[in-house]
Amino acid sequence: MIAVGSDHAGYELKQEILEHLKERGEQFEDFGCFSNESVDYPVYGKKVAQAVASGEYEKGILICGTGIGISITANKVKGIRAALCGDCFSAEATRLHNDANILALGARAVGGGLALKIVDTFLDTEFSGDERHARRIRLIEED
Ligand code: RB5
Repeated sequence: MIAVGSDHAGYELKQEILEHLKERGEQFEDFGCFSNESVDYPVYGKKVAQAVASGEYEKGILICGTGIGISITANKVKGIRAALCGDCFSAEATRLHNDANILALGARAVGGGLALKIVDTFLDTEFSGDERHARRIRLIEED
């Protein structure tokens, strides 16, 4: 199950991504926002991050204008590893090495075609499971 959210700047790309997830046969939930009307990205970043951290959702996708504000927000929630990706190499690497559980996208930075490829790469790449990567992820979690 995938949790998806955006602010107003990411709203249109979110709608495209939801359609794409439907075509892929994915199960997902839209946490908003629900129009182009101006909203605050931390509200949606927190909703999706908390949903993923709860364990109820396996992964999340977050979109704002740059992807920066919403990923900063998500990464403040314990257990969240949100990766802002603007290319498929990074999307693959962050799954393989960081076991990232949230993909963040900047709707003003990437076009729709590339964004959907990044989503596919993120969802289709498993964590490598390598001990050195698992150790580093444990170190992230340490206080
Ligand atoms: C909204 O104008 C914009 O600041 C927001 O979408 C995002 O880019 C913040 O990081």
